[in-house]
Amino acid sequence: MHTDNTQQASSPSRRQFSANTELRSPLRYPGGKRQLVPFFVDLLKLNDQTPLDLFVEPFAGGGAVSLHLLEAGLIERTVLADLDPLVYAFWHQACFKTEQLVADIATADVTLEEWHKLRANPGKTLREKAYACLFLNRTSYSGILQGRAGPIGGQRQQSKYKIDCRFYKEEIIHRLRQIGRLATEGRIAAVRRTDVHTTVRWVEENYSQSRRLYYFDPPFWEKGERLYRKAFRRPQHERLAKLLINLQAPWVLSYDYHDEIIDLYRASTDANGRTPGGLVPAGTPRLHTTDLTYCNRHEKRGATELIITNLNNVPHDYINRT
Ligand SMILES: C[S@@+](CC[C@H](N)C(=O)[O-])C[C@H]1O[C@@H](n2cnc3c(N)ncnc32)[C@H](O)[C@@H]1O
Repeated sequence: MHTDNTQQASSPSRRQFSANTELRSPLRYPGGKRQLVPFFVDLLKLNDQTPLDLFVEPFAGGGAVSLHLLEAGLIERTVLADLDPLVYAFWHQACFKTEQLVADIATADVTLEEWHKLRANPGKTLREKAYACLFLNRTSYSGILQGRAGPIGGQRQQSKYKIDCRFYKEEIIHRLRQIGRLATEGRIAAVRRTDVHTTVRWVEENYSQSRRLYYFDPPFWEKGERLYRKAFRRPQHERLAKLLINLQAPWVLSYDYHDEIIDLYRASTDANGRTPGGLVPAGTPRLHTTDLTYCNRHEKRGATELIITNLNNVPHDYINRT
């Protein structure tokens, strides 16, 4: 399922967008990559890619990077794809039925009863699922929509922080309307509920003439199953590595740091950047690491993020090791 915005971008004047403007995602996404925004800003500039025709997030989640780059005028359009039906429904409504979602949030009853109702049954229509996605995301621990995560404040609501402590209606509505405006300007090229492989095939078939950059942010190697309703096991990580090694268009991949992932990408190319099968990839995948801090109300922890890309130039300010 997908929604394509086939109308052309309305050639937004770049001067309308200031590099300082910020558009934050309405979703508090587990593993959200807002912290990588400065890295992407410098990466695009360093590789002479601004403004880029098309940014593609096949694992969109909260879409933090796309939203910022759009608002800053560094990319013209984005494709947001996610296999999770709730996440897809959220993006569809936020972009193309904004006022419906705004109305649902404005009248939301932010209670434990509503939380249980939506957890048991997020609904059938796109409207219902989008509302359930946003409601549960803003009222569950760490924004996790997945099985074991409970409501903020616990089942007894005895904590200092209650279920509604992250449900800032006005701010959420403001962010939704900013997204709706971007969609009206034609800057959301498509919202798709497709697997990463289908998304890449579709983009390559439809946008081969566009200057494009893919940003792959797959479910974590470790703990992915605890955080996302759609996660990866080893064979899926391996399949993704094969897809990327053979993808000619520029791409960036981020992962939680694990030696097995490094092995997957290193094993795919020999010292000359050739795959064992003889194919010559567009660029030998380059491996880098950078530090990110993930935090919620209870903990703040540092994590080393693995960044792999086939681009030649990587902004070294953000990089520890290559
Ligand atoms: C690490 S999160 C992405 C976070 C995002 N970069 C952000 O900043 O919020 C990974 C996402 O991939 C989605 N996903 C899992 N399997 C997928 C698949 N096979 N194809 C597309 N999306 C998938 C999950 O639903 C989840 O939203």
